[in-house]
Amino acid sequence: MQRFVDNYPQVESGLLFLGTCGVGKTHLAVALLKQVITEKGDGGLFYDFRDLLREIQASWDSISQTSEWDVLKPVLEARILVLDELGANKPTEWVRDTIAHIINCRYNDKRLTIFTSNFLDTPTKAGEETLTDRIGVRLRSRLYEMVQRGRDTRSRFQERY
Ligand SMILES: Nc1ncnc2c1ncn2[C@@H]1O[C@H](COP(=O)(O)OP(=O)(O)OP(=O)(O)O)[C@@H](O)[C@H]1O
Ligand SMILES: [Mg+2]
Repeated sequence: MQRFVDNYPQVESGLLFLGTCGVGKTHLAVALLKQVITEKGDGGLFYDFRDLLREIQASWDSISQTSEWDVLKPVLEARILVLDELGANKPTEWVRDTIAHIINCRYNDKRLTIFTSNFLDTPTKAGEETLTDRIGVRLRSRLYEMVQRGRDTRSRFQERY
């Protein structure tokens, strides 16, 4: 974790924190974001993914003062972005398209993103949904190209940092 901040902005890839409820994923992601902002003076943005989708949907309302682009622009352009709770929404086609749009734009622009998700790569019990079930094979693979793995916050992440 300290290495990420020390090396920032010379960091090749973002981070992905996977783990069950309450292991500290959001805490860790926010701590990193705050450090980058205060120590490196860089602009950053935090979004709970569910709130982001709600804001986009609210922007469609005819009485809304904001457009979809007003909501999305800072998300696509933030120097560093925390997207908390990836996969938490029911994976409808629109939800997946929106994730894909954000991930692809940030990937193409080589912008750093820290993701968190409650969905693991391997189910811990029969019938448990995985990250792939929630976001699809293609998006998961693109996501992994963008991040250094911090596969399970409890074990792997602490080992590495
Ligand atoms: N390193 C830490 N130091 C102090 N408090 C922590 C730390 N990590 C987590 N916590 C606290 O533990 C609680 C759970 O952490 P957090 O909300 O980050 O978990 P989470 O993995 O994001 O959970 P969820 O999947 O439910 O969103 C919070 O109250 C948080 O403040
Ligand atoms: Mg959380």
